[in-house]
Amino acid sequence: MSYYKIENLEQYFKHYNKSIREPRKFWSKIASENFTWYQECEKVMEFDMSEAKIKWFVDAKVNIVKNCIDRHLARKGDKTAIIFEPNNPNEEAQHISYNDLYISVSKMSNVLREQGIKKGDRVCIYLPMIPELAISVLACARIGAIHSVVFAGFSASAVEARINDSACKMVITSDGGYRGEKTIDLKGIIDEALTNCPSVEKVLVAKRTNAEINMKEGRDQWLQPLVDEASDNSVAEIMDAEDPLFILYTSGSTGKPKGMVHTTAGYMVYTAYTFKNVFSYEENDVFWCTADIGWITGHSYILYGPLLNGATTVMFEGIPSYPDFSRFWEIIEKHKVTQFYTAPTAVRALAKEKLEYVLKFPLKSLKVIGSVGEPINEEAWHWYNDHVGGKRCPLVDTWWQTETGGILISALAFITPTKPTYASLPLPGIQPILMNEKRNEIEGNQIEGSLCIKFPWPGIARTIWGDHQRYKETYFTAFPGKYFTGDGALRDEVGYYRITGRVDDVVIVSGHNLGTAPIEDAINEHPAVAESAIVGFPHDVKGKALYGFVILKESGEYRDRTNLAKEINQHISDHIGPIAKLDKIQFVSGLPKTRSGKIMRRILRKIAEGDYSNFGDTSTLLNPEIVDEIKEGRL
Ligand code: PRX
Repeated sequence: MSYYKIENLEQYFKHYNKSIREPRKFWSKIASENFTWYQECEKVMEFDMSEAKIKWFVDAKVNIVKNCIDRHLARKGDKTAIIFEPNNPNEEAQHISYNDLYISVSKMSNVLREQGIKKGDRVCIYLPMIPELAISVLACARIGAIHSVVFAGFSASAVEARINDSACKMVITSDGGYRGEKTIDLKGIIDEALTNCPSVEKVLVAKRTNAEINMKEGRDQWLQPLVDEASDNSVAEIMDAEDPLFILYTSGSTGKPKGMVHTTAGYMVYTAYTFKNVFSYEENDVFWCTADIGWITGHSYILYGPLLNGATTVMFEGIPSYPDFSRFWEIIEKHKVTQFYTAPTAVRALAKEKLEYVLKFPLKSLKVIGSVGEPINEEAWHWYNDHVGGKRCPLVDTWWQTETGGILISALAFITPTKPTYASLPLPGIQPILMNEKRNEIEGNQIEGSLCIKFPWPGIARTIWGDHQRYKETYFTAFPGKYFTGDGALRDEVGYYRITGRVDDVVIVSGHNLGTAPIEDAINEHPAVAESAIVGFPHDVKGKALYGFVILKESGEYRDRTNLAKEINQHISDHIGPIAKLDKIQFVSGLPKTRSGKIMRRILRKIAEGDYSNFGDTSTLLNPEIVDEIKEGRL
């Protein structure tokens, strides 16, 4: 029996039980039967959750790009691997076949080698959603260089911090990027970031907007001439199962971003398996995930998951509102997309517009629709299900994280009955548990608690780059020996999970995971600011928006609060990126703090939500009078 594809609900339960009882057998069979290995593993797994040490497919030898591309060539070399849909609908879409991709990736990997990149070197990729982004990622993986893709909406100082954290040797960027009607000066941002990045030796620049840019002699080179010269014969590097494949930064509870490290074999097996089953991908389907490759969703479900399955995957450069709000639906129709995977924030934004934008298109090609990144509220769920899915496509609400590598809890299309706002059941291999405040597991159904996972799965991140201690403390100490997700969840009467949101200091804004600490650090660097605290509050499009409580320094020079609020937002934009801007800023004279000096955020959260009904126990507050002042916006 093969475990790779689950065919029906009964089989799901069978496979699930097998994966829990005999995880080693379950995953080794999947790994062995569905991938090409130079050498299969000696031991399926090894772990010590209290030390946060996890290994999968120990001592196996593999190259993920050989599995993404080379092994498909004999049977489907001419099949389209990537459909590139440009920002401007009048620019022709590109269909990149598996043969084309093989050549482009091989050439690019030889460019990297010629420029001195070797196995284990870190390469920062700061590109818009153009084919060069996919090709660069895969070229790194082909030669064993560790890619660190930084979302091209991050500011210079955010890029700088990420480059320095992992000491990248090279940056791959472009002369600019298109975003609706705007163009973004990516090279200018890189130039600014690189004034402070001693590890970077080379910068390769792809051409996209033809903008005038500076090329620094000895450091910067145009990419295309190098590719033109390069050979398309590139031997893939033989990688150890646990060699790092990539680093991807996510925000944390301190100002420093966490470089999550994913390794080769486990990530490969897990993304391929989850892609196949959650979306029920079949040959000739056209899969479209609207995320950016700068986020984990793009890594796992635009690139690796689909390509490992020999699928056709769409890469969209633009935004849902350009040239108008029917762009997504037009693209589905144009490329006959069968699986469409997007974020609730996009659904909510599009649901606000005239219904004709979507009703104009029959969308008959669609078979499955998916949601990711934040809880999907009931209204958005129904709009998406009714008007996009035509009430006939299963809506898979997929819960997972940068750290998890792939989807952990989700309905499987055509198999698991869906229930609005519920991610539903865990995938095989995933053992979710809910914990109470006393740190004990709560058994049974119809309960709510902190969501942990009690056993490793192949796709879990292995460490934080350069800081294993932080990895251990962040994920494995709150509930010793368990992986703590940072999310709260409830389990209903039949065992379905509903994710209720973050229980830590992370706020999900428009599907972007934003730690409050780095934003507070950015605000506090403004010369007029003494201290600040950020919380999330409900927003009808973004899901959550940011509310900042700001204490000013004693100086009287900033009397114009409106201007100051603008300056603070500009400061955030410069330090992190526009996605982290605050929707509301309230200037206060103090923040509610406990005697040990900790800000009591739950009170601020309630004030931001406009809910003054019950602040809970405030007896430990050092300065209870401040609560009334903030509440009344008295300052
Ligand atoms: O709070 C959960 C939320 O997004 C967080 C992870 O964010 P990130 O690492 O950026 O990865 C996003 C894409 C995988 C989670 O801790 N989240 C993600 N998917 C869902 C979700 N919340 C509710 N329902 C989901 N389907």
